[in-house]
Amino acid sequence: MCGIVGAIAQRPVVEILLEGLRRLEYRGYDSAGVAVLDANNTIQRTRALGRVAALEEKLQQQPARGMVGISHTRWATHGEPSERNAHPHLSSNHIAIVHNGIIENYEELREALISKGYHFESETDTEVVAHLIEETLKTESSLFDAVKAATKQLRGAYALGVISPDEPDTLIATRKGSPLIVGLGLGENFIGSDVQAMLPVTNRFIYLENGDFVKLSRHSVEIFDTEGKKLDRPIKESKACSLDSDLGEFRHYMMKEIHEQPQSVQNTLEGRLGRDTIKQCIEGENVLETLQQVKEVQIIACGTSYHAGLIARYWLESMTDISCSVEVASEYRYRRQPQRDGVLFVTISQSGETADTLAALEKAKSNKCLATLTICNVAESSLIRESDLSLMTVAGAEIGVASTKAFTTQLVCLQLLVGLLAQANGDSLGVVANIVTNLKKLPVLLESVLDKDAEIEILAEHFAEKNHALFLGRGDQYPVAMEGALKLKEISYIHAEAYPAGELKHGPLALVDNEMPIVAVAPNTTLIEKLKSNLEEVRSRGGELYLFADKKVGISQKDNIHVVEMEDVPETIAPIIYTIPLQLLSYYVAVLKGTDVDKPRNLAKSVTVE
Ligand code: F6R
Repeated sequence: MCGIVGAIAQRPVVEILLEGLRRLEYRGYDSAGVAVLDANNTIQRTRALGRVAALEEKLQQQPARGMVGISHTRWATHGEPSERNAHPHLSSNHIAIVHNGIIENYEELREALISKGYHFESETDTEVVAHLIEETLKTESSLFDAVKAATKQLRGAYALGVISPDEPDTLIATRKGSPLIVGLGLGENFIGSDVQAMLPVTNRFIYLENGDFVKLSRHSVEIFDTEGKKLDRPIKESKACSLDSDLGEFRHYMMKEIHEQPQSVQNTLEGRLGRDTIKQCIEGENVLETLQQVKEVQIIACGTSYHAGLIARYWLESMTDISCSVEVASEYRYRRQPQRDGVLFVTISQSGETADTLAALEKAKSNKCLATLTICNVAESSLIRESDLSLMTVAGAEIGVASTKAFTTQLVCLQLLVGLLAQANGDSLGVVANIVTNLKKLPVLLESVLDKDAEIEILAEHFAEKNHALFLGRGDQYPVAMEGALKLKEISYIHAEAYPAGELKHGPLALVDNEMPIVAVAPNTTLIEKLKSNLEEVRSRGGELYLFADKKVGISQKDNIHVVEMEDVPETIAPIIYTIPLQLLSYYVAVLKGTDVDKPRNLAKSVTVE
């Protein structure tokens, strides 16, 4: 998703900006651009469709040099991906601006600006903001005041970086809804969408809050609220380390990250398990007292993280007396919900910056839930900062857009949370000891599933020419099937849907023929006999089945049944283990189809717009 990097320094900034953009590439984008104020105090802008490397090439042919500048990677929202729509946007070579977010009232603002004589070069909502600042500058005394006055007219979400030849020693920034961070250097200061962009130049950061306005010079950073009151925001030293961008023996980050799962699960468990108890591993205040008061858990997330939440509902309700509901953030945030007592509001997110999840958290806080807790992979993210409690996944940086190790470590954290809730409420069923025993087995069991790699690669050949696929599971394997279908869709572009296997006969069975591969996950759980009957319904209608089945359940290879035999695994951790073959299957299908596995079309890693 869009990424911003800005710098004001006593040295040329173009290389700093380009390196920052390269470090934001993992978020997903379709074009990139940079603007600097040169020695003649003129805005020099360079933009390119496609990768940062294309921008770099243009800059090599026509170098730009300046000590203050802004840059951007764009993920198209308004207007197609093109050089014309790429940021920075200008207003008559007098204002240059980069923007992350969506301006909802841009059409009415655009009409008003056109009637005042402004000419638009792009289809973006961002260009509206550039002209609006230009217009307000006619009555305001400084660029800072003009940005403040212009943003008063905006509806929607934004993080902005603005420069102008009028004030060559200033960089103005502001945020509402979209993240923006200030990086503090020596005689130089920076802005960036995340700390990764600025790690080569500093490890001291100020996390801007909604409504903050910042005036950066080389030697100072001043932050003000909407009323113009000066604010004192804390400076944080980041412990984040640079993304490990070494692919090692792997062709794609996704495959590297699939293979890292035994280690990332081990890291997430490190120091958190006692002999038969779970150590208190939730950060925040009054954790035990809070867990003892929980009557209900409400989980909110998006995409893959939402699937983790769905699995957790099965776990929580089967292992404790606490009820649980799970919903995607984009729906929850706009839905009225009656207030209930004792609700622990849990958000799950790899990035911690997902706009819908953040908005849902804000809503939950205004609804006065018992406490908010986030399960997240990025320690300094907005969700962590906004939540009362946090439980970290220790997956390490995930670069592939399709989430893999973040998902399995989220499941580990969710199981720890279920165990901690049981423990805090006088676990009478031996739930905690069972969780601990099984989690300890997990890293080794994950290693052994990865050994199925070659077998799954062969299976993938059956899918490469297909247009559709169905994924089936029952109980807590149904969300595993949903996650398998999502992985196949997003990286191989094959249409895939997941169903609870018992639901087939209520409609989807009509789709079954030999052109529709059907994938099912079949661990040896209490529902296995039910699942086997559902699979027979498919087979007798000519469906081609691809099963990941426990070797003890007695499903054998036949004409239209392909079976990958799985080890017998404990029921509580089966969803984590059965996720792996589905990740591998999607990966190999995508490789056969020749898609851009790590950066699938139209998708972004960090979804910072609604
Ligand atoms: C799919 C995927 C997405 C994310 C979703 C939420 O592979 O990665 O569905 O899970 O965009 O992102 P986070 O977890 O960062 O909130």
